[in-house]
Amino acid sequence: MRLASLVLSAVGTLAALPLAAGTYIRQPHDLEPFRLFRRTGGDSNRPEVTVSPDKNTGAGAAVFFAQAKSDGSVDILGDALSAQRTAQIKKFFPVFGFTGAEDSTVKIPGEEGDPASLLIFTGVGNEMDKNTTRGAAAFGVRAAYGVTTKVAIMVPKTHDDVIASAADGAVSGTYVWNKYKSNAPPRVDCIIIVSDCDPAKIVHDVTASLYVNYARDLVNEPANVLNPETFAQLASDIATPAGIAVEIWDEKRLAAERLDAILAVGAGSENKPRLVKLSYTPGGGKRNNWRHVVLVGGGITFDSGGLSAKSTADMSNQRGDMAGAAAVFKTILAAHELKVNTRITAWLPLAENMPGGGGMRIGDIVRTYANKTVEIVDTDNESRLLMVDAIAFAMQEEHDILVDISTYSSSGDQNTHAEYNGDNFRCEPDMDCAYSPVGKRDAADADGNSAADTTNSGTPLAFLYRFPGMSSSWGRYAKRDNYNPPKLVHINLGAMGWNPGRPYADQPSMGTGAGVKTLLAVAEQYAL
Ligand SMILES: *[C@@H]1O[C@H](CO)[C@@H](O)[C@H](O)[C@H]1NC(C)=O
Ligand SMILES: *[C@@H]1O[C@H](CO)[C@@H](O)[C@H](O)[C@H]1NC(C)=O
Ligand SMILES: *[C@@H]1O[C@H](CO)[C@@H](O)[C@H](O)[C@H]1NC(C)=O
Repeated sequence: MRLASLVLSAVGTLAALPLAAGTYIRQPHDLEPFRLFRRTGGDSNRPEVTVSPDKNTGAGAAVFFAQAKSDGSVDILGDALSAQRTAQIKKFFPVFGFTGAEDSTVKIPGEEGDPASLLIFTGVGNEMDKNTTRGAAAFGVRAAYGVTTKVAIMVPKTHDDVIASAADGAVSGTYVWNKYKSNAPPRVDCIIIVSDCDPAKIVHDVTASLYVNYARDLVNEPANVLNPETFAQLASDIATPAGIAVEIWDEKRLAAERLDAILAVGAGSENKPRLVKLSYTPGGGKRNNWRHVVLVGGGITFDSGGLSAKSTADMSNQRGDMAGAAAVFKTILAAHELKVNTRITAWLPLAENMPGGGGMRIGDIVRTYANKTVEIVDTDNESRLLMVDAIAFAMQEEHDILVDISTYSSSGDQNTHAEYNGDNFRCEPDMDCAYSPVGKRDAADADGNSAADTTNSGTPLAFLYRFPGMSSSWGRYAKRDNYNPPKLVHINLGAMGWNPGRPYADQPSMGTGAGVKTLLAVAEQYAL
């Protein structure tokens, strides 16, 4: 039908060719998605975490924190080992070259009287603080992988927030991505925090860490498994039973509501785009005027670059181009589990950027939801197109803050330098994280010689600034700073969402789950 009407207009006059809603819709295709993941109530294993003051836990491995002293010696922190045993073990450290440095461990067989048959010493460097403890705990637990599934963390007497970081790091350290390996050892699934601390003090950080792990699973899931449709289905399967309302726009509804930029991004793929809306309202019926936090997470389930194709090497991590959507989805679930007293709406625009025959061409013009036309000058600058429609759509609802997060760009100077220190992005003035009151400044449209209102050229933020209400001045957004509530925050996850190298600190290889803790912190900041 649509084709017929297009042909009819074409035989009239070219000028009458409409840039109609649904221009980028293709015929439905009956190719079934290749489903591999099992949907058994969740999308990851959830390790059991317990707190025990008794050092005899029955764990297969016990992790001890070790600190590098300025005189070159190494301290084993805490009092779980006798003075005699401590002195004996310390003699082994130089033999193994273990200095207590961060990101290093040494394993020593346990003896009669030790808390486990494998002792793992993990370095905190010169100082045991929240950050070094988190990384060291993760390193310690990773060292137990393949040996045992039950690990005790021997935590010295210290501040509650450092103990919470140890638990956070330990949970993070259980993370391995092995579900498609036939003979991989099982994950560590039982963590015992050996401490006399109040368990209530660590629940928050353990929960946040779990949801970071869940986000990692989504980011790592291959694109032949996780496509826009299966991601939307998974979101619904997990969120609906939790009482989070789920609404899904399929390609027909996207067309009917004129979200053509989202359709355009997915037009070259057999897997049609989806837009998912998740709504969480705090329970208890105590009030009806909760503050409203809106999150929009970019979900390119695979980014080939389209016709402006990436190289094979550059595509190797592009199944992770949906890290923003993963972070937003897992944040709303974490907030639900933690019963955060903030109303949260999470939007997941999902599309696969492929160079199929129906896909965007260079020079095509797309009308965005904000009713501004965009000339496509680079099909690999698709994330901003997906987001500009989703943000414009999401902005229509009354909100206290809107945060959008996407792997907008990881190239050159747009690579985010924001430092992920476990619970924050520190977004400095020269980093890809910006806020300002809405409408403070609209950037001029680039490319005045374009046939459209604008083009998808330049940096992602410069592009967003060209749209009404999406401007933002460089600024600083950090939880512990003088807090001046912004209305709009753009976060470029850049390369933060994917670690191409070996694990470091609490970061595993591949999907990092970056964003979850930051977004959760934002939601908590608006709680009443
Ligand atoms: C969109 O913009 C065009 C021209 O810029 C205008 O004619 C039209 O009325 C606008 N539509 C809406 C829904 O605002
Ligand atoms: C595409 O975006 C990148 C940044 O993400 C930018 O460097 C490049 O110039 C853009 N392409 C064009 C043709 O403007
Ligand atoms: C946190 O610790 C890791 C190593 O565990 C280190 O690489 C990083 O620089 C530290 N970050 C901060 C903010 O101290």
